Amino acid sequence: MKRLYEHILNGIKGSRLFYDPKRQGTFENYLISLQTSVRELRKSYWSNFVVVDYARPSIQASYLITYYPHYAQMTLEILRLLWSEFSCDREVKACFFGAGPCPELVGLTQFLGDRSPKTRTLIANIYDIAAQRWTPSRLITQNYIIPKSWRGKLFLNSEKLDFGQKSAFENIQSIVQSQKLFVFQNCFNEIIDRSILLENINFLFDNASTDSFIIIADLLYPHNLIIFEEIDEMVDVREEIEVLQAGTLRVTSSLPIPQILKNNLLTGEDGLIPRSRINFRFLALRKGDRISHNYDDIPF
Ligand SMILES: C[S@@+](CC[C@H](N)C(=O)[O-])C[C@H]1O[C@@H](n2cnc3c(N)ncnc32)[C@H](O)[C@@H]1O
Repeated sequence: MKRLYEHILNGIKGSRLFYDPKRQGTFENYLISLQTSVRELRKSYWSNFVVVDYARPSIQASYLITYYPHYAQMTLEILRLLWSEFSCDREVKACFFGAGPCPELVGLTQFLGDRSPKTRTLIANIYDIAAQRWTPSRLITQNYIIPKSWRGKLFLNSEKLDFGQKSAFENIQSIVQSQKLFVFQNCFNEIIDRSILLENINFLFDNASTDSFIIIADLLYPHNLIIFEEIDEMVDVREEIEVLQAGTLRVTSSLPIPQILKNNLLTGEDGLIPRSRINFRFLALRKGDRISHNYDDIPF
């Protein structure tokens, strides 16, 4: 994790989809050319409802450099809070919704490496409305970042899925029934119709297997906080869903930023200041056994 920026830059440099020396000249020149996209991306996140064209390689590269390093820590910090409860077997299956380039997967593999030496295999099912478009960034996660922090075997399946659509999880019902972990990270403020999202999460609560974990983490946008409240209400009436941890966390990044980035992209100028911390809301849930009341026992 300490060399995360370096691994990201190596991945970008090694992928012709991002950096082509014939067209873009030196890598320094390429980083300078990203300044416009970094400013544009940051501006688009100022709004409560976010619309971003993730198809553009320059936008993805900007995301990888300016947001991803902090976001890789979110799920990791939550898992660290759960470490006494979240014990994993040799093989772990996990679903990541709205994962884009998958920094949350880096958080999970880092956790497994630190706290679960017996886990050798991770089957990661990635669902995103723009699954195909995120492929170049996801490959950087898979080929340049995870192998540096975890020695296990990663099988990564990625599929297009829009959880803003009615009954979106019905097609993956059998997968949902066999997972250890579900993660929703940083994707709520791109969903306009909250009611459908909540219906889908309800379906997930119904179908998740006993002793599976659900992690929800998102930035403190007003729209996201309403969704958190609505999920809290759903959880309140479900006896089998246990709240393990909930609250607000602050992640302060101490990752060293390579000089080449400081000189050419995160220069400290307006719109190009490296981020030092993020605050986010989270909810960590476990599905327990369904409690069946035996009303015959109640004396009247
Ligand atoms: C800000 S990015 C977050 C990516 C990643 N989870 C992270 O923490 O960096 C938001 C992601 O949500 C995805 N997304 C937006 N609307 C979605 C929807 N309706 N269904 C599934 N994914 C969606 C986007 O494609 C994008 O990958």
